[in-house]
Amino acid sequence: MANQILPYIRVEGIAEYSSKISALAKNKKIFIICDQNSLQCVKYLQSNINELSEAPIFKVGLGEENKTLIVSQKIWDFLLQNNATRSDLIVNVGGGMITDLGGFVASVYKRGISYLNIPTSLLGMIDASIGGKTGINYHHYKNQIGTFSDPKLAICDPHLLNSLPKKELLSGFAEALKHGLVFNAKYWQLCTSKPINQLPISEIITDSIKIKSHIVSIDPYEKKERKLLNLGHTIGHSLESLLLEKKTPTLHGFAVANGIVMESFIASEIKLLSRACFKIIKSSIYKIYQPISIDKSDIPFLLEFMKKDKKNSFKEINFTLLERIGKGKIDVNLSEGIVQEKLEKFFSIG
Ligand code: GLY
Repeated sequence: MANQILPYIRVEGIAEYSSKISALAKNKKIFIICDQNSLQCVKYLQSNINELSEAPIFKVGLGEENKTLIVSQKIWDFLLQNNATRSDLIVNVGGGMITDLGGFVASVYKRGISYLNIPTSLLGMIDASIGGKTGINYHHYKNQIGTFSDPKLAICDPHLLNSLPKKELLSGFAEALKHGLVFNAKYWQLCTSKPINQLPISEIITDSIKIKSHIVSIDPYEKKERKLLNLGHTIGHSLESLLLEKKTPTLHGFAVANGIVMESFIASEIKLLSRACFKIIKSSIYKIYQPISIDKSDIPFLLEFMKKDKKNSFKEINFTLLERIGKGKIDVNLSEGIVQEKLEKFFSIG
């Protein structure tokens, strides 16, 4: 896990990586995991890389609800039926759901079979496929079962984003904003300097990969610094889950972006972050993402969800907050009462 030389590369077009995949695939049986959305990318890869052309494909159903143990079992059955051995290779092609699920399946099949990630979404390229976290959802909670296991290689090819719907691009972009906020103010400025369609997306991918892989290389198992990457996610995950419960689901990044605004509000209320910085963050994020508004009566649900999160102890909620733009602070533990009070204030005055 978490090699010194991290296996994540941003490339420009298939010519740059077809030989790398061919070399890794040599003399191995290859198995591809994808979904309907990434099938076109699989066909493209198969027609350009000989070693992949005949590979059996397991197509997972669309959506996060398929990131389950039952689907994992189906993939293990598929691997067994095709006589996959530990020296063979799995190639995950898709968004974060596919790389999380496929990475998990690979990391425990016969105690671990090598895998490659070829993310086809911005979220996959700059977050999910980097850092060796794999996982599935369990009992309505995200990523409760999983492993730390690095792919042999994660290949991030911006050309594969061409057919990605704009809302998916925006969803992934929230993670880039997070990278800037917790680690690099200049990068945040770049990301918020223009509308997303005018930004140099290849540069964004490269910079985010650099920031995330740097953080992960110092703390692969999330004991300290890696917690910086949780900014916006403590509240973001609970919002995501609330909206799912209400049958008005939102995309992960939209919930995270709103989580960043709310957590920045809390940081300014406890005098960690200046009011001026909070205002900049709020207005920059609301220029890109719709504010999620919830009823005051929903706040207890958010709190219950946060308390059950695997990162939290019984009484307090563990946050990563901001001290300023470009500098996150981990392990800010706040009581449930304080979080409730601040969220009520946020939803009454914003
Ligand atoms: N997505 C946050 C992390 O990889 O730690």
